[in-house]
Amino acid sequence: MTTRALVLSLAATAFGCKSKDEPKPTGGSGSGTATAETPRAAPRPSQAPQPKLPPPPDAGDPKKVALGHVLFFDKRLSGANDRSCYSCHQNEDGNGGHDPIAIGSGDKVLTRHSPVIWNVGYWNNAFYWDGRAKTLEDNAKGAWGLGNMGGAPAGAKPEEVTAALDKRAADLAAIAGYKPLFEAAFPGVKEWKTEHVTGALAAYMRTLVCNDTAYDKYADGKKDALTEQQQRGLDVFSGKGRCATCHAPPFFSTAMGVEGGAYFNTGVGTNAPEDKVDIGRMKVSNKPDDWAAFKPPSLRNVTKSPPYFHDGSVAKLDDAVKIMSSGGIANKHKSPLLQDAKLTDAERADLVAFLGALECGGKLEEPKLP
Ligand code: HEC
Ligand code: HEC
Repeated sequence: MTTRALVLSLAATAFGCKSKDEPKPTGGSGSGTATAETPRAAPRPSQAPQPKLPPPPDAGDPKKVALGHVLFFDKRLSGANDRSCYSCHQNEDGNGGHDPIAIGSGDKVLTRHSPVIWNVGYWNNAFYWDGRAKTLEDNAKGAWGLGNMGGAPAGAKPEEVTAALDKRAADLAAIAGYKPLFEAAFPGVKEWKTEHVTGALAAYMRTLVCNDTAYDKYADGKKDALTEQQQRGLDVFSGKGRCATCHAPPFFSTAMGVEGGAYFNTGVGTNAPEDKVDIGRMKVSNKPDDWAAFKPPSLRNVTKSPPYFHDGSVAKLDDAVKIMSSGGIANKHKSPLLQDAKLTDAERADLVAFLGALECGGKLEEPKLP
């Protein structure tokens, strides 16, 4: 079943169940011909065939990737020469962020936690926690020009942002070591602009593919890739715990690979006074139903990327899983798909062990800067 079909069938399940206390179990893992229609057919979801990741997105010209790789690590992109993209997406943090709330160039405290960017090229028109950027190029421009990197002065109008970044692109391309990299990536170009830098950064990010986890090996048929406990954890994940509703394998985010993404209110961050709540997707869509709804992150590398959630409010994975498995945090718009799964401590421990099977093998390699 496609991810989109899965989302639709799950949405149908949710709406069909609105008046009942307990929604039907979604069952299954979304694999092959499995189970949305016959949720109880597979008593152990872990023993059914598991969905495999589609081939990596096309990153395009390797010379663009090479330029983007260097730029990603270069603090000279930032307003105060103090942040590179890598500053907030480091290997030590599973390539998510270290600080609960990211701290941008000039030590400006931003509003959200940095997400893991493995497999970011699989998002489709849905970048950032709220999906406000349509492409990786737009995402890179936002990250570079605005608060994260401060590539343009604070408060600059959109055209001023572009002008400031065009100047920065030209300055970078004029550095002796960079010139050949820019010229190889964009043959024939004489005037260096924002789009060359963002195009190269986007190309590099499309190569950040995590497809070698224990889960991926298991999906490939290597049955001992998951321990017994992890297999039980996968049963909970795709069965009783209903995590797969929003974190469907193989992406572990039901929003990945779906045009425009998908957003759910789990209640995270809604404890604040209402006018202080980050309204998430609603800011993009203007739909009241999207109040405080966010994109489910891919859980790949989740064991390595504390703290958790869009506000970095939870330090320990077990506590994040507790919140999710007990039905989220009550508020006026909580998703009906999130219910207390009434897991035992042993089931939750199995679930956390399974999340350990989503650790990515790769790391971002630090290049030599020109
Ligand atoms: C100061 C820390 C910081 C820096 C520097 C930074 N980022 Fe991020 N990044 C974040 C935060 C925070 C978010 C989430 C923001 C949001 O959703 O509103 C994010 C989100 C992203 C995403 C979206 C991931 C997703 O799941 O949709 C990508 C891709 C990304 N950053 C790439 C970059 C690139 C490329 C650069 C350099 C040009 C960069 N970041 C620099 C903190 C940072
Ligand atoms: C209704 C959809 C939904 C269901 C069901 C769901 N999640 Fe989530 N999950 C989300 C969303 C949305 C977020 C991001 C919330 C935020 O930060 O505001 C999230 C975040 C998380 C995070 C934090 C990841 C990070 O990198 O910050 C973990 C861990 C997690 N979920 C695990 C689970 C587990 C385990 C289950 C099953 C018990 C589950 N989720 C069920 C939607 C869901």
